[in-house]
This record gives sequence, C-alpha cells and structure tokens, in this order.
Amino acid sequence: MSRQFPITKTTAPKVKPDPDHLRFGQTFTDHMFLMEYSDENGWHNGRIVPYGPLALDPAAAVLHYAQMMFEGLKAYKTPAGKILLFRPDMNAKRTNRTNERMCIPQMDETLFVDAIKALVDVDRDWIPDKPGTSLYIRPFIIADEPFLGVHPAHHYLFVIILSPVGPYYASGDGGLVANRIFVEDEYVRAVPGGTGFAKIGGNYAGSLKAQEKAMQNGCEQVLWLDAIERKYVEEIGTSNAFFVIDDEIVTAPLAGTILPGITRDSVIALLKKWGMNIQERRLSMEELFQAAQDGRLKEAFATGTAAVISPVGHLLYKGKDLEICGGKVGPLAQKLYDTLYGIQTGVVPDDMGWTLSL
Ligand SMILES: Cc1ncc(COP(=O)(O)O)c(C=O)c1O
Repeated sequence: MSRQFPITKTTAPKVKPDPDHLRFGQTFTDHMFLMEYSDENGWHNGRIVPYGPLALDPAAAVLHYAQMMFEGLKAYKTPAGKILLFRPDMNAKRTNRTNERMCIPQMDETLFVDAIKALVDVDRDWIPDKPGTSLYIRPFIIADEPFLGVHPAHHYLFVIILSPVGPYYASGDGGLVANRIFVEDEYVRAVPGGTGFAKIGGNYAGSLKAQEKAMQNGCEQVLWLDAIERKYVEEIGTSNAFFVIDDEIVTAPLAGTILPGITRDSVIALLKKWGMNIQERRLSMEELFQAAQDGRLKEAFATGTAAVISPVGHLLYKGKDLEICGGKVGPLAQKLYDTLYGIQTGVVPDDMGWTLSL
C-alpha cells in the first residue's frame, strides 16, 4: 500500500495547454508536492498543495552554495488510458547517491516513489495522450536553512512539480531525427572525484557556455570529453552516448564523471537480452575517427529521459565534420527507440518489469 498524503486542492484550476503545442518545461500542473527535513524529525510533513511560488529566506543555503539535487522522469498514458511510470525506483536510488555526494540526508526510496505516485494521481488529467507526449516529473531538494556558513544544512525542502511535454523533436510526429553534435575540447563538464555522477544544478550551469558554443557552430548538443586528457568520449549534453563500431556497441564506463542514466541502463539491458556485444569502456576520439575512416563506425546515438534515443548524424571535432550513418537515423537507434518507447507507453509488453502502473 502506498503512503497517503494530505491534499489541498487548488480553487483556481488552470487552463490546460494545447496538446499540439507543448514545449519542454514551460507549463506546470495545478499541484505540487512539498516535504521538509529537519534533524529532529527527518523527512516529514509530506503534502500536496496548489502549485505556486516558494517562500525562501534570502540567506537560504541553496541560493549561495548550491546545496541541492534534482531528478527527472516521465509518466505516460497508454492507449487504454492507464498511467505508467518508467523505473521510478531507479530515480529514487540515484537521488540517494546524489544526496550522499552533496551531504543531503538520505530519503526512504519508497517514500520518494509514493510521493511521485500521489502527485501524478492528483494531476492525472494533465497527462497528455497524443503520440510523443508525456508528463515530465521534476523532483528536487534544496537546502533552505538560512545560514551563510559553508557547511551541510540542517533543514531541506523536497519538492515535486509536473509539466506536460510534447515530442522532443521539432518534426512533432514523434519520429526520430539525427542530430549534429559539437565535440568540446576546451571546456570540461566533470573531473574524477568531482560531482559528474550526481544530478545537481551546478553541473548544468557549468555546461551552458559550451552549449552556447555548440549552437554557434550549428550543433544541437555538446559531446563532452574526459577532463584529464581531453581525448575519451564521456556523454552528450543531458544524455549518455553509444557508438556502434563493427558489431561492438561502446559506451563510457560509470567512473564518476558521467551521469548514470536510467535510459543508458535500460539500453544496456536490452542489448544484452538481444545477445549483442555491448562494452562499457573508454573510447578515444582517435579510435572513433579511425573507425569512421575504415568504414567501421556504423551508428552513434544518445540516450536520456527527454528524447529516449537521439541518433547522431554528424560530429564536429577540431573543424572536421564526421558524418555518421549517412547523417541519418540508424537501424539500431530506431529499434531501441521503438522498444523502449513502446514499453514506456504500454504498446510493447514490458517483460523487463520496468513500468509501474498507477
Ligand atoms: C548529464 C546527463 N547525462 C545523462 C542523462 C540521461 O539520464 P536518464 O537516462 O536517467 O534520463 C541525463 C538526464 O537526466 C543528464 O542530465
């Protein structure tokens, strides 16, 4: 049995956005989940209230030293009208790994999942059902103790907000589109021993400059290289990266500098189930270019909650433009997308036990 939380319903429900013109993270549902942490009471006072601004003391630690974390997952409506969450237990586990690194108190994983279920249930009418649409779920924790000393806070706020979102690609029909990716060899995202594996705002603030540079170069996203040798591929924007060389599929290992994506984990599990040769190992740009020159680089794609699978059509590196798979969507990227998105939306039977029905 899931936990129940007190609910204060809004008295001013909002007009729902046009399902044909949903943009990522721009509109929010009628309610939000709030819960506090104090040293005396642990996580307590979980409740659902009307969506609205948070009152924060200007001295709140998060505003100065960025002690915070966030997560991201989606709820989907199946053709039969059922509501499915995709592997929320994995987001709960990743929350605690991030919390551990950020000196934020641990949270009971079932409490995290129950809070999401309760909020999505209250705002279930907000889940769009057109192909390619979903309800994006953003849980986050902020240190709201008003104190300017640099030390772990004693008081935190856990919040969940929800946003109906449309298809990731501008094509709008849910079809995949191959992206242009800028290989960043000046700025770095994460260093060994740093916070790259944690889902924290600072990682993203620090990435904006490179993202701007990628866009100035006509690319959608950045491919990050390792910070020490600026040579090994790590991840692509807000997603993990996979490369198909001959019959080997390569992705960067979880060595502390990349985010352990839940889509990445799911893709690896599917590839293993299909008997394919998936390797978590370091891959240098030199090896990648050599494979491309030899005609052995078959496909590249990124994996993440936002787009599920994003094929890579071009890599821009040191002024060279490397075309992959003829700049088109590759067959493995398409098969993975059809399978994963199919499972998430209840169209493909979930024999992996990944979906949680509300
Ligand atoms: C930096 C980064 N890498 C990878 C991912 C992919 O993770 P997931 O598949 O859990 O969405 C994300 C998105 O959350 C991300 O922000």
